[in-house]
Amino acid sequence: MLRNILKFKDHDVKRNHSNIDYAFEIQRLKKLKNAVILAHVYQSPDIQDLADYVGDSLDLSRKAANTDADTIVFSGVKFMAEVAKILSPNKEVLLPDIDAGCTLEQSCQPEEFKKFRNKHKDHLVITYINCSAEIKALSDIIVTSSNAKKIIDQIPKSQPIIFAPDKHLGAYLNKTTNRKMLLWNGTCIVHIQFSERELLGIKAEKPNALFIAHPECPEAILKHADHIGSTSSLIQFVSESNKKEFIIGTEPNVIHQMRKKNPEKIFIEVPGADGNCSCNRCPYMALNTMEKIYLNLKDSKPGIHLSDTLIREAKKPLQRMLNMTNN
Ligand code: 13P
Ligand code: SF4
Repeated sequence: MLRNILKFKDHDVKRNHSNIDYAFEIQRLKKLKNAVILAHVYQSPDIQDLADYVGDSLDLSRKAANTDADTIVFSGVKFMAEVAKILSPNKEVLLPDIDAGCTLEQSCQPEEFKKFRNKHKDHLVITYINCSAEIKALSDIIVTSSNAKKIIDQIPKSQPIIFAPDKHLGAYLNKTTNRKMLLWNGTCIVHIQFSERELLGIKAEKPNALFIAHPECPEAILKHADHIGSTSSLIQFVSESNKKEFIIGTEPNVIHQMRKKNPEKIFIEVPGADGNCSCNRCPYMALNTMEKIYLNLKDSKPGIHLSDTLIREAKKPLQRMLNMTNN
């Protein structure tokens, strides 16, 4: 259903603007508007190559907080663009496709989350950055996959914690921080699709390859990993390793940066459950295209608009995250 809606929207845009050199026009409009393009490493290679900064969620939130551009075009998903707006409220923040959501964000709705939090009033609420601005405003500290362990390790062991919304990242953090955090029941549509059977088949065929995975994967996948980390940690691991072949347990667009930095190395995608679906691609990240970035800059919409109160409340746990990351 989602994929059908996407196809229709893409087709529509192409029909109206097929003669335009998008890369050229985007650069022109960027200068005109003093804009910066931030792109997540799950964006398609053409968008990554066009962007001013490419990074993981933490890198991009720092860039959004520190840029002196007037406009931020966030080529990623909505929760990431909202973070940019919360940290830079006076800037115009644009998102090429406003439907670029995230299953983790959808799994955690404010009314239910409030009830859950109220049932456990003595718990500190630590929330993964993959959530809406409303959920951030209901949280004590935000974390990303690259700083979660460092931040949780700064909380006294006696303090009970709620961790939301990703139950697999939460289970992984419980293991690595030796805690029993109470977990919300959310999952990422991409990382739960990887097939253990397919993975074991690839490992048997490529016994010298290292398997590296994002902690949003379930334990059945993570238990086979030689390295687990955020997208930037996976990229760094590949560059620092003296091995030649890597099996990639995350959204495969990340391979673009790995290949650019290590052209001589070999990267193998882990397919989803039936072995040949393209369900290892994030359908929300895939909504952004060069055409939509062009239209986004030209029309200054869609953009992120949040109330001053929401920005103020959501900024507190994000600012705590940034402070605790630097500790
Ligand atoms: P990173 O923080 O590792 O970039 O992950 C973001 C994400 O959405 C993973 O699915
Ligand atoms: Fe959300 Fe998963 Fe897509 Fe990341 S890969 S944006 S967690 S749906």
